[in-house]
Amino acid sequence: MGVKPRSLSGIKPTGTTHLGNYLGMIKPAIQMQKTHETFYFIADYHALTSTQDPNQLRENAYDLTAIFAALGMDFDNHAFFRQSDIPEVTELTWILSCITPKGLMERAHAFKDAISKKQEVNMGLFSYPVLMASDILIYDSNFVPVGQDQQQHLEITRDLAIRFNHLFGEVFVIPEAIIQNDVATIPGLDGRKMSKSYGNVVPLMASEKQFRKAIMKITTDSKAVEDSKDPGTCNVFSLYKFFSTETEQKELASRYLAGGLGYGEVKEICFEALNLELSEPREIYQKIRKDLPQLDGILESGRDKASAIARQVTERVRVKVGL
Ligand code: ADP
Ligand code: TRP
Repeated sequence: MGVKPRSLSGIKPTGTTHLGNYLGMIKPAIQMQKTHETFYFIADYHALTSTQDPNQLRENAYDLTAIFAALGMDFDNHAFFRQSDIPEVTELTWILSCITPKGLMERAHAFKDAISKKQEVNMGLFSYPVLMASDILIYDSNFVPVGQDQQQHLEITRDLAIRFNHLFGEVFVIPEAIIQNDVATIPGLDGRKMSKSYGNVVPLMASEKQFRKAIMKITTDSKAVEDSKDPGTCNVFSLYKFFSTETEQKELASRYLAGGLGYGEVKEICFEALNLELSEPREIYQKIRKDLPQLDGILESGRDKASAIARQVTERVRVKVGL
């Protein structure tokens, strides 16, 4: 640890983890373990802006820990932890709030979205981006792998870090977002962005039967089997692309164009490709999810690693601001 650049990311324990989360964030984050020191956490403080179900929150946190375990997170050499196990992050949030222009928060997408839908906005949602900046800055993070929808939060984080360093002297590392452009937004069953809030997800760790059922539900156009079809606009093909080689994609694309390939068959091919990658992790997940002592142990060791860094950075900040 120490010489490699640090990669950090968080994921909210707010519902069923899906293929969009997997391709946009979890898979790239896990791959980065080879080249980076990684810090990944369950953003439970953030989840509180939208959920008030304590049992569900705890269960979802265990789900995520088991998912990262099943997908090959190396907990001995990297840190995986609960956001709320590092309370210093809330102290830093306060300090950063005091240099955050209110107008910057009013321009944040999640806030604007809630206002346009006439939803009630609590202060947690309003200052969500400050808590996220604090998450990133408190661990001296160099890189932050996230989906495209988080880009604005990263820009706000950089703004706040630069502003703080300018006002008080160099304290924070300026982080960079890592966004996989080709997987920027994974479409859901209905073709819109796959998202828990749209109810259009393919659950990542569902049983094989449920997984298959979800894929069979993907919306397609109503062309007949014999018709020529366009792979470029097909939701099934756009998922298949992430689980196949270029040669396989070319082959399937030419079958689309030739006609004679029905959507039922396409979905079956897609299911097989996805299942090949995910069936083994699913088995590991099912075993480990039941083993709460093991999951607690993972989270405790992550907490200890994260806490050591958070304390150092918080101390630097306190000295600079005069606390
Ligand atoms: P959701 O939109 O389902 O509530 P989250 O906001 O919890 O998902 O996102 C967790 C991570 O997964 C973030 O890094 C986000 O960018 C990524 N992500 C979520 N949905 C998608 C998607 N459809 N395509 C790509 N990445 C996604
Ligand atoms: N806001 C992110 C999301 O909705 C989750 C998150 C919280 C996060 N803190 C973070 C992501 C810090 C990256 C870095 O998905």
